[in-house]
Formats: sequence, structure tokens, C-alpha cells
Amino acid sequence: MLDKVKSLLDEIPLIKVKTLADLELFRLKYLSKKGLITELFEEFRNIPADHKREFGQKLNELKQMAQEKYNTIKKELVSQEEGSGDEDLTRPAFPFPLGSRHPISIVRREIIDIFSRIGFTVSEGPEIEDDNHVFTKLNFAPEHPARDMQDTFYIFRNSAEDSNPDDILLRTHTSSVQVRVMQSQKPPIRTISPGRVFRNEAISARAHCIFHQIEGLYIDENVSFADLKQTLLFFARELYGKETKIRLRPSYFPFTEPSAEMDVSCKICGGKGCNVCKYTGWLEVLGCGMVHPNVLEACDIDNKKYTGFAFGMGIERAAMLKYQVNDLRLYFENDLRFLDQFKTAL
Ligand code: PHE
Repeated sequence: MLDKVKSLLDEIPLIKVKTLADLELFRLKYLSKKGLITELFEEFRNIPADHKREFGQKLNELKQMAQEKYNTIKKELVSQEEGSGDEDLTRPAFPFPLGSRHPISIVRREIIDIFSRIGFTVSEGPEIEDDNHVFTKLNFAPEHPARDMQDTFYIFRNSAEDSNPDDILLRTHTSSVQVRVMQSQKPPIRTISPGRVFRNEAISARAHCIFHQIEGLYIDENVSFADLKQTLLFFARELYGKETKIRLRPSYFPFTEPSAEMDVSCKICGGKGCNVCKYTGWLEVLGCGMVHPNVLEACDIDNKKYTGFAFGMGIERAAMLKYQVNDLRLYFENDLRFLDQFKTAL
């Protein structure tokens, strides 16, 4: 009997316990109700009285040793599973993937930021508009072909052939917001209006039926074309880089006179010519001009006292040039492989 106890005293320290499963086997073998040590305690009764003392001592020693081994290993294994206790418990449990701003939002914010540095405020208006704010007040004559140029989505038409200021439609440009600003504020007015616009166009790499614009309006006494040009030069250099040059080409819009389109020097080839600028060295970015006196009058602004300039650009186009994305549809598909690439941007 005593030999059995002694051999267990030798055996137990050598047993390797590496996992919680090993530990459970250890417990079952030695410490459980049917374990070897418990069995030995039962046999203790049958030990002759003169051996009881020595046997009892050894047996207690054995039990204590096995129990201690069990306790320390258990503590170690559990704390290994739970961590050492030194880690930062305020950290998230696992790295949560962060989203990123949409490239259109990044560029919109950047453009707003540039104009707000030179005193422009931001104004917004409804996407569902009436003909009056989108066309009539902007000097589009009732049968003006420019109404067709803008491929309007109508929601309600008073008559299929004739346009009517009460027709309800999706705005085709955010110039409608500028009409609302002119009607509700007195000059000086210096504002930009970012927003979504809608045109019934076939979807392709270069066109979409929904896109985003930012239009600007500045009305005060003695505002001249030179002010327009300098403002746009400042803007182009801020957005596209200090080396950027601008070029104004004559154009036509019913609500501006004179009107122009602005090109910026191609920053990819530095003006030498490449496939992005179609070997012209220039990229078209916006339309602009001096606010037509008829528009000022229609919005109750004294066109003898005040003059103003306006400009408007597509945000998708600006973003395409900035990020050299050659298919506009990518901005609308929300493919994470595309959007993830803007994580490090603003
Ligand atoms: N509203 C015009 C467009 O949508 C852009 C523009 C705005 C042109 C202001 C001139 C002045 O195409």
C-alpha cells in the first residue's frame, strides 16, 4: 500500500499537462471520486493501526501535491486563454474595418472648402422643382431649344407640347437654387449650391441620368468678367494644383451673357498632350458667364445697379480628372473594391 502511495508521489510531478483537456484527464485519474487517490483514502480504513500514521502522512502529502499541481496548472491555462491581464481592455475586440468617404463627397467637400475660403456660403434647394425655377426665371423662352438640350424628366406637365412655369420636374441643374437665393436675399450675394441633378441621358462611361453639380453665384455692384476669371483661376489652382492654367472659350447659356466654357491645362501630361486630354493639352471643366440682366430682373434684383457672375460644374467630372477615373459609372455602383481605394483621402 505504502509503495503505491510512494510510486504515485514520484509519478505525479512527471506528468505533462498542456491543455485543459489533459488537465481534466489528470483530475479524473487522480482526484475525482473514482480517482486513484480517493481510492487510496478508502483503503486507509484497512491499514493496520501501527502503519496508519506513516501511511496517513504520505497519503495527505500525495493529495496535497496532486491538488496543488491541478490548481496551478488550471490557473495558468485559464489566464493564457483570457490573456495576461496586461492588455488594453479599451481596444475594440477585433479590428473593425472602417468605411471611407465616397469620392464624390470628398471632391464636393474640397470644392466647398475652396470657395468658402473666399467668402462663398452654401445654399441648397429641392430636387423636385418647377419649370419656373429651372427654366423660366433663367431666361429660357417657352420654346427655347435649350429646354430640350437638358433632357428633362417631367413629373407633371400641364400640356404635352407647351412648357408651363407650373410644370413639375426633376431639376436638371442647381441654377434653380440660385434663383431661390436671388428671390429671398438681397445683394451682395456670394453663394455656391451643391446638389444632385437629373437628365434623361443614356448611361455610359461619360454620362449618367443622375449626377452632382456645384454652381456658384456672385452678385454685387461692379462685378466684372475679370472678377469671374480671377475667381476661377484661384479655384482651378487650388483644386488641380498650383501650376494649372485656365482657358476660357466663348459659349452659350440662356442665363448668362457673355457665356464661356473653362478648360484647365491637363495635369497628367502638363499640357503636352495625352490620351486623357485627347492630345489637346486641355480639359473642359465648367460653364460660366455674367448673369443675364433678364435673370436679375426676373428675380427682382435691380439690373442697373447690380451685376454678377455665375458658374457651374459637374462633380463627377472634377473627380474623374482628379483621380483619373475613366468610367463615370464606377461612382454609382458602390463596388467596395473601388470605394476602398479612397480610404486614405480626406
Ligand atoms: N447650369 C449650367 C449647366 O448645368 C452650368 C452653368 C452655370 C453655366 C452657371 C453658366 C453659368 O450646364
